[in-house]
Amino acid sequence: SLERTLSIIKPDAVRRQLIGPILSRFEAAQLTPVAIKMLHLTQAQAEGFYAEHKGKPFFDGLVEFMTSGPITVQVLQGENAITHYREVIGKTDPTQADAGTVRADFAESMRFNAVHGSDSPASASREIAFFFTDDEICPPVEV
Ligand code: CMP
Repeated sequence: SLERTLSIIKPDAVRRQLIGPILSRFEAAQLTPVAIKMLHLTQAQAEGFYAEHKGKPFFDGLVEFMTSGPITVQVLQGENAITHYREVIGKTDPTQADAGTVRADFAESMRFNAVHGSDSPASASREIAFFFTDDEICPPVEV
């Protein structure tokens, strides 16, 4: 079915001028951007976004990394977008990611892994709403 997922291009990839190449992978995979913005997360925003990982050994490093520079956040729409996007980006650990995936080609490590994606419909709803109001998603819905 037609779904939307929340995608992030992380500070490592923005720093390495990979916004264009990474968005191209999504478009080539029929994952169509319907909202895009660039921002630099505050500590509170990064901790809130990744709240489910609070207490894990990598949490502090994750927050430090995610606040280290600008990111792009985008809503991508397509058939089975949540699962399909995760196939396009590959596994969290780039050494485990299939050849041709975004992380296999652009990620440096488990932490510096270039992109994020929602892992379920519930996460997608929460994460899209974390960054976007309904009227920022194109086409806006008339109310
Ligand atoms: P992401 O998809 O953004 O969701 C949580 C992030 O935590 C993940 O990508 C990785 O960047 C990071 N992460 C998960 N596991 C580890 C780990 N074992 N060591 C370091 N970072 C991790």
